[in-house]
Amino acid sequence: MNLPDLTQARKRTKEKVVTELYNTNINARHIGIGKTYYVKTYGCQMNEHDTENLKAMLEEIGFQEVIDVEKADLVLLNTCSIRENAHNKAFGMLGRLKHLKETKKDLIIGVCGCMAQEESVATELLNKHKEVNFVFGTHNLHRLPDLVFEALSKDKKVIEVFSKEGTIVEKIPVKRENSYKAYVNIIYGCDKFCTYCIVPFTRGKQRSRMPKNIINEVKDLVHDGYQEVTLLGQNVNAYGKDLDINYGMEDLLRDVAKTNIPRIRFVTSHPWDFTDKMIDVIKEYPNIMPYIHLPVQSGSNRILKLMGRRYTKEEYITLFDKIRNKIPGCTISTDIIVGFPNETEEDFKETLSLVDYCKFDGAYSFIYSPREGTAAAKLEDKISIDEKEKRLYTLNEHLNKYFLESNKKVLNKIVPVLVEGRNEKGKLFGYTDTFKLINFNGEDNIIGTIVNVKVTDSKTWSLDGEIDG
Ligand code: 5AD
Ligand code: SF4
Repeated sequence: MNLPDLTQARKRTKEKVVTELYNTNINARHIGIGKTYYVKTYGCQMNEHDTENLKAMLEEIGFQEVIDVEKADLVLLNTCSIRENAHNKAFGMLGRLKHLKETKKDLIIGVCGCMAQEESVATELLNKHKEVNFVFGTHNLHRLPDLVFEALSKDKKVIEVFSKEGTIVEKIPVKRENSYKAYVNIIYGCDKFCTYCIVPFTRGKQRSRMPKNIINEVKDLVHDGYQEVTLLGQNVNAYGKDLDINYGMEDLLRDVAKTNIPRIRFVTSHPWDFTDKMIDVIKEYPNIMPYIHLPVQSGSNRILKLMGRRYTKEEYITLFDKIRNKIPGCTISTDIIVGFPNETEEDFKETLSLVDYCKFDGAYSFIYSPREGTAAAKLEDKISIDEKEKRLYTLNEHLNKYFLESNKKVLNKIVPVLVEGRNEKGKLFGYTDTFKLINFNGEDNIIGTIVNVKVTDSKTWSLDGEIDG
């Protein structure tokens, strides 16, 4: 049994990260034949992509996917720790599964992902959740077949969570959700240690995949007809820094662009590592989409400092303006946290004034949620939750006004759209190059292709349109 330890997880070593190839445990090979599985995913795109690996590994050992959790023989929760809310949802689901197991004794329940990396969660799962059969963390996702094998054959709880990241494992099988857009990991972990954030603990130190492995993956996707890749990392702009090969995010973007994949996106960018060279490359290659997610978190220099963000409001604005001026039509979205410990009314007003200046095209806004083990969780906080909710409401009013303004700028324009499927009202939907959601009428045969759509109506969170021509 291996339990995680937050103090160990915080440590950073200079050790070189080794890359190895995925290898299924021969014993596990047929263990799932005749059995079904269900995976529930919480959290970010990184987790969604991990689920694509988890599903493929389960299928490799014989399991078949079901869409009804009650029909599954094995249920796996791929969890998120970013805010308490995500935490509560996963434990809520576990309650439901415990019930299910009362009538279905053979049900196998697994918990993985970021929550499993938290010391207190792993201990709680060990001591208080008899219904859980196996637990593993983000560093040993590739071990799923072996762990299922152990859980099924040894009839005792299996817990394997490492505090320290291990090797980078290449060629883990993947069952992609989609046949025209794909996620591609480029860098794991994060070394920024923003004081509110649990990610450096749950995902370990910054480790970049080798460029050739990334490029080859994208080339294969191009060969298979994929239209879009999203390069993933907690901080993609730090790509390559740990490799010592003098090759950074701008080089990777250029080489990925040269594969001629029609669309490239990347998330998430930290303003600190965003270089002028990157801006030039994004501008130079038309298949790098003119859309950047650039979390600012706060507009108050005092709070930014307490958050450990390493930039001031003024520096953020300089970068923001540079991107907007150099890349014509580029949209920019952001993340903002309100109610960081002891954020004053004045601090909050600074955030609003930054929002009024930047007029973001999109944003995610959150109330600060203390995460165990992080530096900010130790700060005393005198601001009431009522006050924080009021601030979130006010912030959203400002943000929504600018989303609508941004959407109005494309009214009557013709925009390129990757058609993704049908919404619940039966309309086709997709995203523009600038990452705007658009709904329109059309035939099924254009799903998975890029088409020109004329914008006929602009709303706060989406556009309506009609196919051009
Ligand atoms: N509380 C609230 N929001 C958080 N985020 C990260 N950690 C926390 C936290 N403890 C937000 C940040 C980040 C996004 C993914 O989630 O805005 O950019
Ligand atoms: Fe949640 Fe962060 Fe883990 Fe993604 S990396 S699942 S956002 S805690």
